[in-house]
Amino acid sequence: MKVKDKEFISYLSEGEIQNKIKGLANQINKDYKETKPLFIAILNGSFMFASDLLKEINLDCEISFMKLSSYEEMNSTGTVRELIGLTENVFKRNVIIIEDIVDTGNTMKNVLEQFKDRGVKSVEVVSLLIKPEAVVNDIEIKYIGFEIPNKFVVGYGLDYDGFGRNTKAIYQLKS
Ligand code: IMP
Repeated sequence: MKVKDKEFISYLSEGEIQNKIKGLANQINKDYKETKPLFIAILNGSFMFASDLLKEINLDCEISFMKLSSYEEMNSTGTVRELIGLTENVFKRNVIIIEDIVDTGNTMKNVLEQFKDRGVKSVEVVSLLIKPEAVVNDIEIKYIGFEIPNKFVVGYGLDYDGFGRNTKAIYQLKS
């Protein structure tokens, strides 16, 4: 598949992604039984994952969104810009952050810091993908879909310079 000027090859199929999401949702359904969690999805990249995950959640729950940006084309800039902040009252809530991919972990570190001093009951992260070789921050991601190598991926919400989000599968940069 070509996205802008780069060639990508198939990496995770629609079936593999959907199966993994069912597994993650089952775990969350068990762990948060009898609670009413508040999911907060990090835009833009997690919009498809958040949508499919929530369809498998059988708890009374709410969802809200934050919009952050740290990537330019294929590189992390190191600074996390907040485009839509946290507007929800999270006092005494069980918060579950939904992320598409944890790369350096800068975005997640920044997000998690915002929940300090807000009196949350708990805060955990569910990320569809993580690049363990790229993570530089000491953060705990409780629910992980796939551990992937430190290679650029697109599709299923993830973009290359804004493009390539609109696929059911995930593709890896051809090397
Ligand atoms: P981090 O702050 O370095 O952990 O990067 C997190 C954000 O960078 C993700 O939410 C994505 O938006 C973006 N990102 C990181 N790696 C990739 C990738 O391989 N493809 C597309 N976006 C990525």
